[in-house]
Amino acid sequence: MEFSIKSGSPEKQRTGCVVVGVFEGRKLSASARDIDRAAKGFLSDVLRRGDHDGKAGTTVLLHCVTGLPSDRVLLVGLGKEREMGESAYRRAIDTAIKALRATGATDATFYLTDLGLRKRDTAFKVEQAVLGIMEGVYRFDRMKSKPAETKRALRKVTLHVARRGDIAEGEAAAARAMAIAEGVRLARDLGNLPANVCTPAYLAGEAESLAKHHGLHCEVLGEKELEKLGMGAFLAVARGSRQPPRLIVLEHRGARKKDEAPVVLVGKGVTFDTGGISLKPAAEMDEMKFDMCGAASVLGTMKAVALMKLPLNVVGVVPATENMPGGNAVKPGDIVTTMSGQTVEILNTDAEGRLILCDALTWAERYKPAAVVDIATLTGAMVIALGHVATGLFANTDSLARELVQAGEASWDRAWHLPLWDDYQEALKSNFADIPNIGSRAGGAITAACFLERFAKSYPWAHLDIAGTAWKSGTEKGATGRPVALLANFLTRRSA
Ligand code: BES
Ligand code: MN
Ligand code: ZN
Repeated sequence: MEFSIKSGSPEKQRTGCVVVGVFEGRKLSASARDIDRAAKGFLSDVLRRGDHDGKAGTTVLLHCVTGLPSDRVLLVGLGKEREMGESAYRRAIDTAIKALRATGATDATFYLTDLGLRKRDTAFKVEQAVLGIMEGVYRFDRMKSKPAETKRALRKVTLHVARRGDIAEGEAAAARAMAIAEGVRLARDLGNLPANVCTPAYLAGEAESLAKHHGLHCEVLGEKELEKLGMGAFLAVARGSRQPPRLIVLEHRGARKKDEAPVVLVGKGVTFDTGGISLKPAAEMDEMKFDMCGAASVLGTMKAVALMKLPLNVVGVVPATENMPGGNAVKPGDIVTTMSGQTVEILNTDAEGRLILCDALTWAERYKPAAVVDIATLTGAMVIALGHVATGLFANTDSLARELVQAGEASWDRAWHLPLWDDYQEALKSNFADIPNIGSRAGGAITAACFLERFAKSYPWAHLDIAGTAWKSGTEKGATGRPVALLANFLTRRSA
């Protein structure tokens, strides 16, 4: 997809489709009014006839409007003008691109980027438009025997900004957003791939090819090396699987000062989570192929960071394994020694994410990191607590939590800060080992974070539980690519 930024009068645009907004109550937006004037009131006529009332999520497509040099005009409902906020804006973009895809237009000009949004600048609107459009045109048909669509595809989008002076800002935002969109797409592709294709070795190969094509450094550790390092918890999870585990390390060395302390991203890479001997019920178990979405978001973010050439050192660490039952699998009650030396009683083999992450967190110490952020589809309890809107955020350092919350707000890929008070640590008591791998059912997402905290003592650390936000279920089943946008924004701010 090619994006360009323009200002100037909409009625003169020669384009496959003009996309304009209409507020609820049949009120034309400013650009729509310009077009209406050029078309001698045709748009107003359409509204008056009752064909469009501006309700959010609705569209009307007009062809061959006299007085306009464009082939089509797409009216997009914006909802109530007073309620025009970030979510309504994103919804308008999503609605528009969905309708646009159904047309034969190969290029289009969006007049949504010039809408007024309280406290949001042109950069935000352009960035969200690019991300929304790229999300909307995304299809995952790699596993179909033949591609589903034969229609001409949208290839060029022009985003209209209100003033000439906004063009430079818009262009910079579009370039940044394209890099992030590339990262999001990679994360979605990896998440959507079935577990018989996307194995730990496949993820490692993906990291190696990222390194090769984008100037990153890659290192992949196998079973023997993990044993030598003493990663007893990670290896315990991998025991039941025929697919050997991998520890994947990707480095972006972009800082002006070469030895600057890096930010380390650690992504849960369980390529399939059956639960192990504590086997999961059959219903929706297919969705556990998404249990590597944390890993996918790390690889996606590394790609975005490389494309943006951020002047920052960033390390991506991915422990990758399947969680399977079997004759060799780890059993409830087994006790393992982690790389940190702490022993863990594995009371439930389905709480495997924290077991692979704890050793990866200890591994991260060798980088003397400025900060470590882990990203994991860690708990079902997180989905119950925050649903599918906000990612759960925990941290041992409040300033790091604040940075991530702000990055989430700025990129509209939001996270919500939850407590990690010592009181919750009470739930982690074992009669036989230093700690168990599960706490109480109550506050399950918090006690999981408490477990990780014990392995993150030597640096500022945050944990993002993306169990509710990494993928969608139902008819729109598929990976979302979250929280690549949040992470890319966080790292961009850190590099500034
Ligand atoms: N990958 C799951 C978490 C999960 C479950 C994410 C459902 C999204 C939807 C994780 O490995 C897991 O199984 N967690 C258990 C922990 C429990 C055994 C303490 C859970 O949440 O049920
Ligand atoms: Mn599990
Ligand atoms: Zn899991």
